[in-house]
Amino acid sequence: MVRYPQLTLKSNRERSYVVHVGIGLFKRIPAMILRDWKGRGVFIITDANVRRLYGTQLQHGLTSSGMSPLMLDVPAGENAKSLKIVTALYTQLLQHGLRRDSLIVALGGGVIGDLAGFVAATALRGITFVQVPTSLVAQVDSSVGGKVGINHALGKNLIGAFHPPAAVFIDPALLQSLTQREFRNGLAEVVKIAFALAPDFFTWLERHGSDLRKPSGSVLRALVSRSVWLKASIVARDEFDRGIRRVLNFGHTIGHALEASTRYQLSHGEAVSIGMAAEAKIAAEIGLLKRADYQRLVHLLKALRLPSRIPADVSKARFLAAIGLDKKSDITGTKFVLPRRIGEMLIGIDVPTPFVRSLWGQ
Ligand SMILES: NC(=O)c1ccc[n+]([C@@H]2O[C@H](COP(=O)([O-])OP(=O)(O)OC[C@H]3O[C@@H](n4cnc5c(N)ncnc54)[C@H](O)[C@@H]3O)[C@@H](O)[C@H]2O)c1
Ligand SMILES: [Zn+2]
Repeated sequence: MVRYPQLTLKSNRERSYVVHVGIGLFKRIPAMILRDWKGRGVFIITDANVRRLYGTQLQHGLTSSGMSPLMLDVPAGENAKSLKIVTALYTQLLQHGLRRDSLIVALGGGVIGDLAGFVAATALRGITFVQVPTSLVAQVDSSVGGKVGINHALGKNLIGAFHPPAAVFIDPALLQSLTQREFRNGLAEVVKIAFALAPDFFTWLERHGSDLRKPSGSVLRALVSRSVWLKASIVARDEFDRGIRRVLNFGHTIGHALEASTRYQLSHGEAVSIGMAAEAKIAAEIGLLKRADYQRLVHLLKALRLPSRIPADVSKARFLAAIGLDKKSDITGTKFVLPRRIGEMLIGIDVPTPFVRSLWGQ
């Protein structure tokens, strides 16, 4: 019999939730939902791709268990994280009888988790929701931690809430249908988690190296479960992102500026990968990190076919503006999270601008 390890996360809102991880878990989700939410209205929110791949199967499973789920889908992609889509979802949910005791099932990647979670946080002042993450980014990162939200014209994730899910169901087998590029995006977050928090996991990643580009079976399961456990352990210590949770922003200061300055031509994972290499380089140059540790990071990123250099065609002026650096300032407007060694990060570091400027032509 396959055993599904359980991880219980205590939320400060006097609720705790279980993160279930197991290959083959997907087909057991209807029974698990029925056990805890029998008799409630169930609404699945997904995107058009995931609806086709897994949505119909989940809907049938729930129907066979005696529930009457309604499935709503939105177009795939980041643009769905908008107030317009949120409003359309509110309308459909309310027209179909959403109640305070209904259950929302977020089935999809990080976009769906953030969007459906935001709808759940706000409709009728808060509906219970569960996460069924289907992308690697969502399985190792976004489905755990309770941060939900949408984008605003002035920036990503600017409108949101903390609304922890009531449960998270992670089946790594669902990742087999992801494209290589989407899988690599998730690998960037896995490397971030390992480099920021766990030297032994980082060494494990190095040992498996290029095998991780398309893992299956026990390697895939270990990759996902170790990452999500590490993420959960940090969230448990700092649910509202006021301290230690910020170590997970490693690579994201430069990463976000690269995403913005390339108008999202680089995917988030690619931008974070370059961001980690650049921030580790800065840390090595200011004498915080051993050069050998910086080189280990770059070596692993290369083995995973993740980028580690700022592409030559990224506009330096646009990048510096995005990072809050104009010609006159000698310190960036943004605080960095920089590594002191693998597994130890420093939060809130000011970086003198020459170190940021020197990233060009690295
Ligand atoms: N809340 C958080 O803590 C947190 C953390 C990290 C990222 N995020 C957010 O997550 C989002 C990125 O998530 P993402 O990379 O999963 O993007 P995504 O949800 O857009 O999914 C990427 C693509 O993969 C497809 N897809 C998903 N699962 C699939 C599967 N199993 N097989 C085939 N295709 C599949 C989707 O349809 C989509 O086209 C961003 O909006 C980011 O801000 C949130
Ligand atoms: Zn990220």
